Amino acid sequence: MAGRLDGKVALITGANSGIGQAIAERLAREGADCVIDYIDHVEEADETRSKIKSAGGNAVLVQADVSVVADCTNLIEQAWTQLGSCDILVNNAGIERTASFVDVTEADYDAVLDVNLKGAFFLTQAFVRKLVAAKKPGRIINISSVHEDMVFPHFATYCASKGAMRMLMRDLAVELGPLGITVNNIAPGAINTPINTSLLANKPKLNALLANIPLGRLGEPDEVAGVAAFLASNDGAYVTGSTYFIDGGLIRNYHEQ
Ligand code: BGC
Repeated sequence: MAGRLDGKVALITGANSGIGQAIAERLAREGADCVIDYIDHVEEADETRSKIKSAGGNAVLVQADVSVVADCTNLIEQAWTQLGSCDILVNNAGIERTASFVDVTEADYDAVLDVNLKGAFFLTQAFVRKLVAAKKPGRIINISSVHEDMVFPHFATYCASKGAMRMLMRDLAVELGPLGITVNNIAPGAINTPINTSLLANKPKLNALLANIPLGRLGEPDEVAGVAAFLASNDGAYVTGSTYFIDGGLIRNYHEQ
């Protein structure tokens, strides 16, 4: 059966776990050749590749720290060298650190902003430069968060990074639209991934959050991947400048704890 992404190459950052891993597997199932970016835990990245291969897909691993601009440039170069193109970029790599605002350190700020914002910014720049040189269209999908729009007390660095990602997406949708490049955000709520390990282990905190989620459960990585596949495919060709919330209704129902 023909896949919606046959002949395309997709690069997914942080694709060795959680949402990134699910997106890589899904885009590969839809026919895309995938570049699996990872920074550490190569065994997990390798597991993503094995799953893709055993489902009949094609994937390569490239190690890169997206907070380093030279790594971003190399990542895009590797996609073109090893797979011949790079049509779809999924800026998924992200971290969060909790601290009361008065306690946030410079190191916390740099770590979160460098991965979540600087990484997406300069990787997108490297991605677009190659597309412009090759005169090709492309798709940019950022994995932001409900917290691109919704407050998250004690996560000021995370909120600052995701709020900025929202504006970056809107700005680039207008600037890159004439080049045939679409730019959209997917804004997950609470998803069952390693970023939520401590939340999942804290029953009272988890129950308080679940009480705020109209659908009454956490989301699954593969559900987020379904939205990414839509945006990457021809079905999403006329979508640009939008954020797709996938949060069980959380953003419509937030109460301060
Ligand atoms: C954060 C999670 C949080 C969720 C809902 C996500 O962006 O990474 O830690 O549980 O938003 O607040």
